[in-house]
Amino acid sequence: MQPQALPGFRDFYPADMALRDRIVRTWRRVAARYGFEEYDGPPLEPLELYTAKSGEEIVGQLYSFVDKGGRDVSLRPEMTPTLARMVAARANGLKKPIRWFSIPQLFRYERQQRGRLREHFQLNCDLIGEPGHLADAEIVALAIDAVRAFGLGSADIRVRLSDRRLLTALLEAVGVSPAQVPLVYQVFDKIRRTPEDVSVTRLSGAGLPGPTIDRLLGIVRARTWSELDGLGAGLDRALAQGDPLRRTFEALQALGFGDYLDLDLGIVRGLAYYTGTVFELFDARGELRAISGGGRYDDLLRALGGVDLPALGFGMGDVVLGELLRDRGLAPDSVSSIDVFLAAITQDDLPHLLGLARELRDAGARVEFALAPQAVGKQLKLADARGARLALVVGPDDRGRGEVMLKDLREKTQESIPRDAVRDRVARILGDELSS
Ligand code: HAM
Repeated sequence: MQPQALPGFRDFYPADMALRDRIVRTWRRVAARYGFEEYDGPPLEPLELYTAKSGEEIVGQLYSFVDKGGRDVSLRPEMTPTLARMVAARANGLKKPIRWFSIPQLFRYERQQRGRLREHFQLNCDLIGEPGHLADAEIVALAIDAVRAFGLGSADIRVRLSDRRLLTALLEAVGVSPAQVPLVYQVFDKIRRTPEDVSVTRLSGAGLPGPTIDRLLGIVRARTWSELDGLGAGLDRALAQGDPLRRTFEALQALGFGDYLDLDLGIVRGLAYYTGTVFELFDARGELRAISGGGRYDDLLRALGGVDLPALGFGMGDVVLGELLRDRGLAPDSVSSIDVFLAAITQDDLPHLLGLARELRDAGARVEFALAPQAVGKQLKLADARGARLALVVGPDDRGRGEVMLKDLREKTQESIPRDAVRDRVARILGDELSS
């Protein structure tokens, strides 16, 4: 029996790492454009950090155990409680609003399915200390840009937005009792994937009368503000709870993201701490699970750290995004691990080759050469396999003239150039590709 990775855990071979690296770098770049600073926390936390406020769903998925000191601990299933703890601990010394991001690896014992694993990397962007709608717009805009930066547009992704305050008020106004709310949430959460009669049966099983069910279906199907406003009399006071979300929509339209947005009061979110705007990003074809989700959690810092600070943010996983990029042909295909391959014709050329390697690596080029004597043809095959842009062939004849052979493997050209000019020539050809 060969040992294997655990189910839901990934091995990252270099080609997989290239995609992960592209995702993480792109996220960092976009977060920086919004003025977000990077932070990190421990991967292992006290269990109670999650049992306190995250909600049943995630608590049921924890990788938790008792450590050797008898403490109840858990691998982090999400970053938000760690962030809330860290910010609350230094709340007075931090300039508000706080704009922070992190890219932790997270662990959830989930039922495995497409787009859901037991570990994933998640971009977390959170804005703390600002209750107004512009903070909401800023966070949603950043989530959209974190996907747009890969070359995806409004034909590829949709943002579905809701607001817990608005939904709670509407449910109350149509006659849903507090005890019935959790079931209505469950039905709403699954409504897109469930035949209508099944949803209706579940709602009436909870004791909801037909006219209320009709109004609930109207609420969950509304995709625009005018559809929502047209749902009938008696909802005006409840609809006023939608004002912050309306303003968020307007700000996002002014930022140029109007094309991405859908109103969708069926966005429930599995985490218990959200208090206002909630949103999720999906692929527009509706084939994959959510790419990203987030919202406002104005009470969490008080609950976890005794500090009264409004907050909101989102998490975006690398798994669904990676699938979408692969589906759309946007994942990196061939990986080039080096810029320059050095080939020696004879053993006497080796010291000269090593001198060149040192010089070019110091100049920032990625350089490799054969580690044992080999025919030049074989050495050049390795250069190709590595995706090298250039090969430099050092041989006795060229050396006698103070030259080396420079092969441009992309342009398929070659010429002898003076040994002293190698560094500058290579730097000129590689240009921006050079790391220093
Ligand atoms: P979440 O909706 O649980 O939110 O996760 C956010 C995103 O992480 C999901 O949309 C999905 O892309 C990815 N994700 C979650 N679980 C898995 C999994 N098992 N496998 C692969 N990808 C997964 C949160 O975690 C919130 N703490 C986000 C947040 C930050 N809210 C405010 N600030």
